[in-house]
Amino acid sequence: MMTEFDRPHIRPRRNRKSAGIRAMVQENTLTKNDLIMPLFLAGKNGAKEAIKSMPGQFRFGPDLLLKEVKELHALGINCVCLFPAVEDRKKDSKASEAMNAHGFYPKAINMIKNELPEMQVMTDIALDPYSSDGHDGLVDRKTGRILNDETLDILAEMAIIQARAGADILGPSDMMDGRVGVIRQALDAEGFYETSVMSYTAKYASAFYGPFRDALESAPKKGDKKTYQMNPANVKEALLEAELDTEEGADMLMVKPGLPYLDVISALSDESLLPIAAYNVSGEYAMIKAAAANGWIDGEKAMMEMLLSFKRAGADMILSYFSKEAASIL
Ligand code: PBG
Repeated sequence: MMTEFDRPHIRPRRNRKSAGIRAMVQENTLTKNDLIMPLFLAGKNGAKEAIKSMPGQFRFGPDLLLKEVKELHALGINCVCLFPAVEDRKKDSKASEAMNAHGFYPKAINMIKNELPEMQVMTDIALDPYSSDGHDGLVDRKTGRILNDETLDILAEMAIIQARAGADILGPSDMMDGRVGVIRQALDAEGFYETSVMSYTAKYASAFYGPFRDALESAPKKGDKKTYQMNPANVKEALLEAELDTEEGADMLMVKPGLPYLDVISALSDESLLPIAAYNVSGEYAMIKAAAANGWIDGEKAMMEMLLSFKRAGADMILSYFSKEAASIL
């Protein structure tokens, strides 16, 4: 039997005693406004190809992509992020298709902005979906090195093509040095002052991108991405990248992946005055889907808990393949 003296007089459980009180003292909230839905675009109308390692996700042809975007809009999603699934025969070592102003990717951006101008369209700027080498930068044929500055010229050209197509936010995802500055300069030189840049600021060399590389068949043919993507052991380096992206003119900063890097999201949101995005990547999606399919986890609850964790860590926005599912619950 406890004495009166032993009894706790401070009881945090009082703030958890009812749904009403729990709601009042809740510190963080997930809303539809936080969600950005990544979508995979295929070249041919009518296409809807299931991605095996991402159950519930598809490569949509332009017509069906538009239909999907309209559904997302009706659910209250403000922003989609498009990735091109380029046919193998169109890939080459120079990523030429990335610079095709009349390609299916800029056309689809343009179509969405014409049909549904309120929807914010974010794009991807990197060579890997277009490159026969599967790298984000040009590969030096002799040494196998990933060429930084030679790649920047292509990124700048992609930025102009995408901005001209009507993109609202450009997403350089390649981790070359100086890309944000080069892209900002190119945009401003062409008068695209209002086109935003969300930099993939702290993008780690991660095993969690596997299903995405299945979706785009974009895995590196040789080697890995460790000479440009960050070492998972580092966090100070993320702050350096944030400082550089900010000086170079980024409007928003991103951390990727999300779940294994909540501390990095937290560090960036403490240090930076810019809005922070978390990318809840393909492998994080696949893990929950697989465990739920096996009956090992409540997939819906785990999804909502995971999405909320990004808000708690300090993210303002979340790119997630769960966006549609979560929006239909919220
Ligand atoms: C590459 C890119 C990757 C993703 C987005 N852009 C993966 C990679 O570096 O190979 C991954 C997204 C995901 O896993 O959901 N530019």
